Amino acid sequence: MEKEKSMTIETLAAFAKRRGFVFQSSEIYGGFAAVYDYAHYGALMRENIKQAWVKEMIRRDDVKLLDSAVFMHPTTWKASGHVDSFADPEIDCKSCKNRFKADHLLEPLGYTDVDRMEISEANKIVEQVKAEGKLKCPVCGGKDLTDIKRFDLLVKSNLGSPTSELSEENVVYLRGETCQGIYLNYKNYLQNMRVKVPFGIAQVGKAFRNEVVARQYTFRMREFEQCEMQYFVHPTDEQPKYDYWKKERMRWWKEELGVPAEMLRFKDHEKLAHYAKAACDVEYDFNVLGKFAEVEGIHQRGDWDLSQHQKFSGENLEYFDQDKNEKYIPHIVETSGGLDRMFLAVLDSGYTEETLEDGSERVVLKVKPSLAPIKVAVFPLIKKPELTKLAKDIYQYLLSQHMVEYDETGSIGKRYRRQDEIGTPFCITVDFESLEDNMVTLRNRDTLEQERIKIDDMPQIINSRLYPEKA
Ligand code: GAP
Repeated sequence: MEKEKSMTIETLAAFAKRRGFVFQSSEIYGGFAAVYDYAHYGALMRENIKQAWVKEMIRRDDVKLLDSAVFMHPTTWKASGHVDSFADPEIDCKSCKNRFKADHLLEPLGYTDVDRMEISEANKIVEQVKAEGKLKCPVCGGKDLTDIKRFDLLVKSNLGSPTSELSEENVVYLRGETCQGIYLNYKNYLQNMRVKVPFGIAQVGKAFRNEVVARQYTFRMREFEQCEMQYFVHPTDEQPKYDYWKKERMRWWKEELGVPAEMLRFKDHEKLAHYAKAACDVEYDFNVLGKFAEVEGIHQRGDWDLSQHQKFSGENLEYFDQDKNEKYIPHIVETSGGLDRMFLAVLDSGYTEETLEDGSERVVLKVKPSLAPIKVAVFPLIKKPELTKLAKDIYQYLLSQHMVEYDETGSIGKRYRRQDEIGTPFCITVDFESLEDNMVTLRNRDTLEQERIKIDDMPQIINSRLYPEKA
């Protein structure tokens, strides 16, 4: 029987640490706010999610892959508008000195999209809620709060010759979004990759933001990874392709990430960037946050990005359609997901506490088998040489195809529980009968069903259950 999910961030973070998924960065120095490290099982599962996204994007004719550098010419960020306006609105509590994102304080009071407003516009709301006595510090309850101030999100660094002074002249930015690397390479793809509009460029990579508030575990990090795809279209094709990618992305979240449909929804942006005709978020209903929150954005970006880079670089970024004898700046439909939020949604929806029929309790990570960090665990029933030999042979054989673990320590029940917690879909147990009949026990993580299967049939059975779509 599954328990009601009333999980806190603390429960999930403690679980993810205990089972080797996610560690706080720099823990021996007391931690480093909003920066996290992925341990063995976390890194494996995150890699599986990344591969599922890449596979989805590029196993088609019209989308190509890119892996661009984190550092880009600094003018990139002037052209993109980030240097001037990539900032969060923040409010400080004058009593306890805590700092908050203004939208986090104003959303519960019924004001949405504050982070997309001009500061002056948002401050009118602050003035009003202050006058009504509604604005309170969520930490100390104090009502003495500042107006909204701008907090720059771009992370700066310096690059130059080893002898040059660190100064504003050699400032570089750690990329605040990966898509800028795509725009800078658009012309290269046209000239060298034999692509024609409509086409897309997809990439997964690190992005860095000096986020104001850092209390939402891996939901809001200062170093994170984005899965972005920019689809270049004729201006008249922007709306149809936006509708198409909305459908495709929602399908992916359900089918490929295995996130329950009822925990996903679209939310249209009420406040649009001046160049955008439409934009929406895919939102997931996080158990640990107690609310729906953005996990991916799908945006119509018009010709803003290429026009800006054309203006700042002086390069002609027009597309010439030879068939129609027409020149234009392609418009862009963007799908922009956060890999760490995909990971958190998979962990959050998979984490299950159950009471079994015999009254015992277990924690089980019910993630889609293809995303599980370990696919199969192989055990000898007990630690006897004849059993361990056969179990190790099976382990070695399966290892050539999947991530597999071998475990001979502790009771068989404990070994099953350990694998349940890291989401291993199948366990294989070798017992004394196996030596006689060449059969092993295959145990299913979710149903707990145990069946005897022939060792010879094992690879095919495991494959067809891990990847039913290929069977
Ligand atoms: N190129 C468009 C863009 O970057 P965004 O809404 O700022 O749009 C896209 O970010 C996605 O990146 C978000 O939906 C989210 O999944 C992820 N993301 C953004 N900021 C993040 C952060 N601080 N920590 C983790 N993921 C983040």
